[in-house]
Parts: sequence; structure tokens; C-alpha cells
Amino acid sequence: MKIAVMVSGGGTNLQAIIDGIGEGRITNTEICLVYSNNPNAYAIERAKKAGIPYVVKSPKEFENRAEFNEALLQILKDAEPDLIVLAGCLVVIPEIVVKEFKNRIINIHPSLIPSFCGTGYYGLKVHEKVLERGVKVSGATVHFVDEGTDTGPIILQKAVYVRDDDTPESLQRRIMEQAEWKIMPLAIDLIANNKVKVEDGKVIIDGYE
Ligand code: GRF
Repeated sequence: MKIAVMVSGGGTNLQAIIDGIGEGRITNTEICLVYSNNPNAYAIERAKKAGIPYVVKSPKEFENRAEFNEALLQILKDAEPDLIVLAGCLVVIPEIVVKEFKNRIINIHPSLIPSFCGTGYYGLKVHEKVLERGVKVSGATVHFVDEGTDTGPIILQKAVYVRDDDTPESLQRRIMEQAEWKIMPLAIDLIANNKVKVEDGKVIIDGYE
């Protein structure tokens, strides 16, 4: 399976995927493209180091959003991925891309969906809201991307305890280490090995316990 990974920032999830492939925890998978909207994303360095083709294209380079959306669709089509992986990608995925790659786009969100998700919940903001509300358990979710924000079928989730002395930064880091870097590579491996089906808007995983 060929995957295109879309990033905007540090790219630790991209690194977890690169390492997962390198160490054989993700099988039948190669990264055909890393796309970033942000020219300064450290994720680009990670792609370079791993010898993976990358494209940087910012919406700012275009007159309007529709033109950017078309360009993005073309970049992705040219790479011919079987799966698109959003790994900390802050670009809102246009409907034309969602339609073209129906049930072939996955995202990682740093909370247990349907809590702390939707418009306005991204990056550190998620963890700030979690701490504000005082919940005791948070975590991460890998889900398919549909036309809504964080509304697609859920593939995998992993819970992480919130500590009394957590800051948004410490909670973000622990959720990455204990949840995101584990369930994202696992989800890709399951999809690459045809273990994931979507039925009636829900994911069924073959042999998952
Ligand atoms: C992660 O917390 C991810 O859940 C969120 O954005 C962050 C990306 O981090 N969507 P990185 O770029 O993979 O290090």
C-alpha cells in the first residue's frame, strides 16, 4: 500500500510511521509523498532524512481557496496513494479531496472523540480544554475523514490518564508517547493488511481484540 502523509508541524507522528515501517511494525506499506502546507515544518527535515519525496504548497501562494484546493487535489492524485494519512495537518481537507479519496483518508486527533473535538479543537487547545474541564482520562483517536470535522468512523482509540499537575504541554507529550505514536502506526498496518472495513458508518476490525 502506498501512503501520502500530510503534515504541518513537528512531524513526530510522521516519524512514528517512518520508524514503524523501518522496524517492520507496519507491513506492506511505503510512503510515496509527504505534503506540508508549512515550509518551516520540521516534518520536512524528517522526510528529507528518510529520503521520502515531499511537496510544500501553502494556501498563501494562491489567489483563493478554490485554486489551492484544486492544486492540493492534483498533488495528491499525482502521488497515487492508496491511503492519505493526516499526521498533524492543520489544513482543512477540501470536500473535493474527501470525495476523491472516500474512506481512504485517516486522521489522528489528540482526544477521545466525541469529546474535545470539532471546530476549534486542535493542537494544544484540545489539552487546555481537557484540563479546564478537569476530566481524568483523555487520549487519542484515529478515524476516517468524512465531510465533517472529526466526525468520520472511528478506527482506534487509546486512553491516557490526566495528572493533577499536568500542563497542556505535558499532557500533549504524554498522549503522543502513550497513544498517538502507537495507534497511528497500528491503524496503518491494519489497513495495509485489509483488516479494516467500514459498515453502516462504523469500523469493523478483523481479528482485533
Ligand atoms: C498531534 O498532537 C496530533 O494529534 C495533532 O497535531 C499534533 C501533531 O504533532 N493533530 P506532530 O506534527 O505529529 O509532531
